[in-house]
Amino acid sequence: MQRILVTGGCGFIGSEFIRQQLAREARDREIVNFDKLTYAGNLENLAEVADHPRYDFRLGDIADASAVACVFEEFAFDAVVNFAAESHVDRSLLDSGPFVTTNIVGTQVLLDACRRAKTPRFLQVSTDEVYGSLGASGLFTEETALAPSSPYSASKAAADLLVRSYHHSFGFPSVITRCSNNYGPCQFPEKLLPLFITNLFEDQPVPVYGTGTNVRDWIHVADHCRGIELALERGRPGEIYNFGGRTEKTNLEITHLLLELLDKPRSLIRYVADRPGHDLRYAIDCSKAERELGWTPRVSFEQGLQDTIEWYRRNLAWVDRIKSGAYRAYYERQYGSRLGAVTPPKTAQQGHSP
Ligand code: NAD
Ligand code: DAU
Repeated sequence: MQRILVTGGCGFIGSEFIRQQLAREARDREIVNFDKLTYAGNLENLAEVADHPRYDFRLGDIADASAVACVFEEFAFDAVVNFAAESHVDRSLLDSGPFVTTNIVGTQVLLDACRRAKTPRFLQVSTDEVYGSLGASGLFTEETALAPSSPYSASKAAADLLVRSYHHSFGFPSVITRCSNNYGPCQFPEKLLPLFITNLFEDQPVPVYGTGTNVRDWIHVADHCRGIELALERGRPGEIYNFGGRTEKTNLEITHLLLELLDKPRSLIRYVADRPGHDLRYAIDCSKAERELGWTPRVSFEQGLQDTIEWYRRNLAWVDRIKSGAYRAYYERQYGSRLGAVTPPKTAQQGHSP
């Protein structure tokens, strides 16, 4: 039996990873999920595996060295996969403090705990945003220089450099993965796709930053998580692996596609002031992961997007519970005056948990 510590497993990507790991009965893996349950952490995301015999949950903060020490005293781990992070660029522009604490200090605390416990494997889940922005052409490779633009991406780059330094100085057995924009079930509705899908369900406007010409490379969360698993199993210590979906879209293309799929008018688009320091374009060269890990993205954007819309339609109660909480204050602060006299959308009370 292999025991894996997953941090941040109650979030969007971590919960998909845990569901994947526990889905196949033949798999000889036990998961301990260590999560602080911030606004983005949701136990509902793992309701279907909460009682699984190979799953344990521990509430805790990765930046709290004594809480992390406790979980390392309780369990011996064969690997640690660090998903835990403050993950939203716009929030990092409002207050960068939690990003520095969780993303940088938290990673350092985990690295030290792993060193003390001689944990044989550490995987840092990072992002393509550490590379900064591309112009109209070119792709990010693992050799692209780090040039983060936002407090979020700067904190992720700092964490990557710490991981790199532990490998370089101590031979620490780490692997870093850097992925492009994920979409799929359970994504918190502050991010572009779930925000727009759930607003459109309610005939609420959708706020496009700037001119909508910024490009993102979209990948289904299930493909990202398969990549993380392969990097954990086959990645070479000290190496970095990029993952991307080879699906570049402008934000306006995405917006028009959603309007079409949901049969809503273009008059719901609101062009609002641009995100400060907004990166123009992300696009990933994932050939190293294909070559060395035998990974390739499988979910087509067309199918993945339809499935994602369906997931949100079936889980309106999940959305509603989020949107009726502290989310309302965030939405008001981020968009209130920019969208005119629009109240935060309130999704109909129906549907069921994931
Ligand atoms: P998320 O915001 O949905 O979830 C983050 C999770 O981490 C939550 O469960 C939260 O409670 C937990 N958490 C936050 N601070 C914590 C702390 N101090 N201690 C313990 N747990 C804490 O994020 P996500 O979108 O699932 O992203 C997961 C990871 O993947 C992040 O490291 C992010 O940088 C990276 N990433 C995300 C994307 C994307 O498109 N969403 C793409 C590439 C990489
Ligand atoms: O590239 C990987 C990164 O992708 C991850 O590291 C981050 O954790 C994740 O949040 C995501 O970052 P982005 O900033 O690219 O994602 P977001 O969904 O916030 O925005 C996607 C694009 O849509 C971006 O160009 C900004 C734009 N946007 C976003 C929002 C929330 C809008 O035009 N309007 C909006 O309201």
